[in-house]
Amino acid sequence: MSSEPSPTSAAQDRHDRRQQSRDADPQRARFDAIYRLARANEAHDEDTGGHLKRIRTIVERIARRLGMSPDDAVALGYDAMLHDVGKMTIPRQVLMKPGALTVKERAVMDCHTTRGHRMLIERDDMHQAARIARHHHEAWDGSGYPDGLAGDAIPLEARITSVADVFDALISQREYKRAWSWEEAQTEIRKITGSRLDPAVVDALMAVIDDGSLRAALENLES
Ligand SMILES: [Fe+2]
Ligand SMILES: [Fe+2]
Repeated sequence: MSSEPSPTSAAQDRHDRRQQSRDADPQRARFDAIYRLARANEAHDEDTGGHLKRIRTIVERIARRLGMSPDDAVALGYDAMLHDVGKMTIPRQVLMKPGALTVKERAVMDCHTTRGHRMLIERDDMHQAARIARHHHEAWDGSGYPDGLAGDAIPLEARITSVADVFDALISQREYKRAWSWEEAQTEIRKITGSRLDPAVVDALMAVIDDGSLRAALENLES
């Protein structure tokens, strides 16, 4: 008789080991929950899984550059993955509509910020993620939504996520646009610095681009 474990018991073993490591490390359990939620959301959105992983990496690099501790930067990277989690509640015909949205549809779409906040705020360990979900479309000059906050009144974690989100959208290919080169993306980012984006956060992004560390971290994701 073979002593090989059956496929079912091997799967059970893996499941048990994952459960044990989650029990041992609550932070890991939190990251696990974020992954699941973020991936479930992806199924409903045009974004590929790549966007979420890149957002996490870009946010983490910017946060480190701004002087955040490694642990806080990692946690922030994970929380940023949930920035669009409220899109789960937006009707598919609005979310996937090709072409421009009507004023009414735009208002529905913009609710993904407040809905995401409501989904997350109930959990004590998701308050930072909730702030990001609510405020990642605020603009430095106060012209953003949903609360029209300006400058430092916008939580830093949301300002960092906005910069990472815009940069990644520019360098990624979407149905309606080609992937821009990093140089083109940097030029575009500079144009909206001070209006949409926080100049200090943009400086941090430019620094991790210029020293090559962001490119290395993103290439690492792909391999
Ligand atoms: Fe969003
Ligand atoms: Fe995004």
